[in-house]
Amino acid sequence: MSGSPVKIAILFSGRGSNMQTLARHIAKADVPAELVLTVTNRPDAGGIEICKEAGIACTVIDHKSFDSREAFDAKLGETLRAANIELICCAGFMRLLTEDFVNGWPDRLLNIHPSLLPKYKGLHTHKRALEAGDKEHGCTVHYMRPEMDDGPIIVQKSVPVLAGDTPDMLADRVIEQEHIAYPQALDIVLSKL
Ligand code: GRF
Repeated sequence: MSGSPVKIAILFSGRGSNMQTLARHIAKADVPAELVLTVTNRPDAGGIEICKEAGIACTVIDHKSFDSREAFDAKLGETLRAANIELICCAGFMRLLTEDFVNGWPDRLLNIHPSLLPKYKGLHTHKRALEAGDKEHGCTVHYMRPEMDDGPIIVQKSVPVLAGDTPDMLADRVIEQEHIAYPQALDIVLSKL
C-alpha cells in the first residue's frame, strides 16, 4: 500500500450507527485511512447530528431534488471525485446506485447488508428470516456490484435466532455484529490496496 492514508467517504441514509462505528475505527492511529467526508441522501437523517458532534464533514444530497437516479448519481460522483475519494463505504445507505456509478468504482465501493447474503437481498431481512424459520441470521459486508446486494463477500457474521424473537429483537442482535464486521472488512480491504 502507498504511504498516504486512503481517502474514504461514508454514505448513509438514517440513524448512522454503522457510519459512526466506521468513523471511530478510521480515526484510530493504526488504520491507514482518512475519513474525508460523509454523504447522506436524506436531510432528516439522524446521522447528520452524529457528524456535527464529531466534527465530521457531512454533505446532504437530497435525492428528492433530482429528476432521475442518473442525475442524483452524477452529483454524488462529482462530490466524491472533488474530494479525491478513493474508497466508498455504504453504511445504511438506502438508495440503489446506477450500474454506471457502481462500475465507476471497481472494488472501491463497499456495502453492509443485514442478512447472510445471498439470502434475503432487499428490505425486511429480519422479518423474512423469522418467517422462514431460520435458526441463524446475520450480516454481510461485500464489494458492491451493479445488482442489488450482490458482490464478493468480505466478512460475514452470524447470530442465533432465538425462540420468541421479533424482527426488532433480531435486528438489535444483528446490528451489534454489523459494528464488528464493518471495521474488520475495512481493515481487510485496506490491507489489499
Ligand atoms: C443497518 O442494519 C444496515 O445494515 C441496514 O440498515 C441499517 C442501518 O443502520 N441497511 P444504521 O443507520 O447504520 O444505524
